[in-house]
Amino acid sequence: MREFLIAPSLLSADFARLADEIRDVTVAGADWIHLDVMDNHYVPNLTVGPLVCSAIRPYTSLPFDVHLMTTPVDPLVSAFAEAGANLITFHPEATLHAHRTIELIRSHGARAGLALNPATPLTVLDHVLEMLDVVLVMSVNPGFGGQAFIPETLDKLRLLRERVDTTMQRTGRTLLIEVDGGVKASNIARVATAGADVFVAGSAVFGAGDRAQAIRGMRGELATVDEYAGAAAMQ
Ligand code: DX5
Ligand code: ZN
Repeated sequence: MREFLIAPSLLSADFARLADEIRDVTVAGADWIHLDVMDNHYVPNLTVGPLVCSAIRPYTSLPFDVHLMTTPVDPLVSAFAEAGANLITFHPEATLHAHRTIELIRSHGARAGLALNPATPLTVLDHVLEMLDVVLVMSVNPGFGGQAFIPETLDKLRLLRERVDTTMQRTGRTLLIEVDGGVKASNIARVATAGADVFVAGSAVFGAGDRAQAIRGMRGELATVDEYAGAAAMQ
């Protein structure tokens, strides 16, 4: 069976009650916790750093999926790894040497992800795809929660799916496609059909009164998605 993962983004949580919010989505059935790190430089918004990551880490045993929207990237890597990040994802244009940054993340025992903005072409994956654990496809421009899903993302996901399947067959390593921005129950099946494995959902989960129901609703939609040829490569 193809496995789909749901990663609620804390960006839409109540920041005054982060520990409770994390416990709530953990009980509600989340798979990963997505932490958006924004520096008011690479993106206009400003959120949290390693100190907050480390403070909230004890409130769940779920993997922490840290999405760095910062420039530079390298000086933050070890601090987030020590703060309990399991996966560290960065934007290639935010670092001088993307290959080196991936090696740095992996040297700290974390998984490495590369995030592609809506206008960033798949060619940035040339020569580094085999080193990655996750490719994060932004389906909104980074910086804010609650934006509308950009429909052109679906074509990009389809192209990426083919490429990732070929790479996984060659290397035998698991490589996940994560999609981030504007994902909700009404579009998640289409996004999954186009090729995503991991679904970040901020407002769709934290904006719902009943988070368990929100996550169940998304899983219900995902259950309607047909298997596709590349599914075997995920096992
Ligand atoms: C945007 C962030 C997203 C955002 C998603 O820069 O990377 O993770 O929180 O929020 P929604 O699901 O509300 O679009
Ligand atoms: Zn994010």
